[in-house]
Amino acid sequence: MIEKVKKTVEELFEGIEFPSSPEGLYDPLRYMIGIGGKRIRPALCLLSYSLFKQDFTEEILSPAASLEVFHTFTLIHDDIMDRSPLRRGEQTVWKKWNEDTAILSGDVMLIDAYKRIAKAPATCVNQALELFSTTAAQVCEGQQLDMDFEHREDVTLEEYEKMIGLKTAVLLACSARMGALVAGADERQCEALYRYGYDLGMAFQVADDYLDAFGDEKVFGKPIGGDILQQKKSWLTIRALACEQKFIDLFKTRDIDKVKAEYVALGVDGDAKEEIRRYSLRALDPLKEAGFAEDKIELMKEFARSLVGRVK
Ligand code: IPE
Ligand code: IPE
Ligand code: MG
Ligand code: MG
Ligand code: MG
Repeated sequence: MIEKVKKTVEELFEGIEFPSSPEGLYDPLRYMIGIGGKRIRPALCLLSYSLFKQDFTEEILSPAASLEVFHTFTLIHDDIMDRSPLRRGEQTVWKKWNEDTAILSGDVMLIDAYKRIAKAPATCVNQALELFSTTAAQVCEGQQLDMDFEHREDVTLEEYEKMIGLKTAVLLACSARMGALVAGADERQCEALYRYGYDLGMAFQVADDYLDAFGDEKVFGKPIGGDILQQKKSWLTIRALACEQKFIDLFKTRDIDKVKAEYVALGVDGDAKEEIRRYSLRALDPLKEAGFAEDKIELMKEFARSLVGRVK
């Protein structure tokens, strides 16, 4: 099923259509969607749907595409906020064009995402829009906290978890719930999948923080050490600060090599890997509690496994 999901997602984005004029507005959108990332949010949405229904018809393809369009919009704006020059191995929109273009193309993508969600079946479209709107606002809240934390030295692990829960985990949670909702699953099943997606999202962001320091730029597609330059309170930083308060002085120098060496000396790189594993295992608990069949849990476990060992 995972192969079928991957193939469906690939075809979905090969055939996706956007307006063409004015080019200044739609070219950046087509560029970013065209480069294509891992597309895990539509994949998770389809996988979740497949637990209840076999064929991927338009009723789920449109909401699934919407999740990726929305996600890509957040990335275009995130790259302005994080001053990041590289994304998916290519120049970011604000670098390739300019900030004004990145803002407006991002805006129109958010609107495009709404149009696609609105194509959910009449029986669940109101719930789908409610879920999507709540999630989208939460992502903005998380992004604001992420920026606020750049200027703080006393961010706690709890505050960090709240921040990544909002900026990242809720969208994976929403993707998993959307698949179940459109397939007509009951509330208990929808909620279990939401919680699965949430913990997977937590694992996913800790992995992103880890790769930002220890990934291979060519594979990861983003500049290594960007979080250090930008003074992000990443999982590694929070953990290093908990180990030794004076780490902040080194961190403030923005010396990528030295900061990374200190992460290694403190062992926080290994701790991060452990944390990723812990979250991804915990993700399965709600599915077991909700009584999903063994083969279905196995499928979701396989998907979780593919994210734990990710290098991009
Ligand atoms: C990047 O998301 C932003 C985070 C939430 C960590 P992805 O790692 O899913 O980026 P793409 O879509 O594959 O490029
Ligand atoms: C991104 O977090 C979360 C959202 C875009 C909502 P990051 O800033 O860590 O994502 P990357 O590393 O730039 O992809
Ligand atoms: Mg960011
Ligand atoms: Mg960023
Ligand atoms: Mg990151």
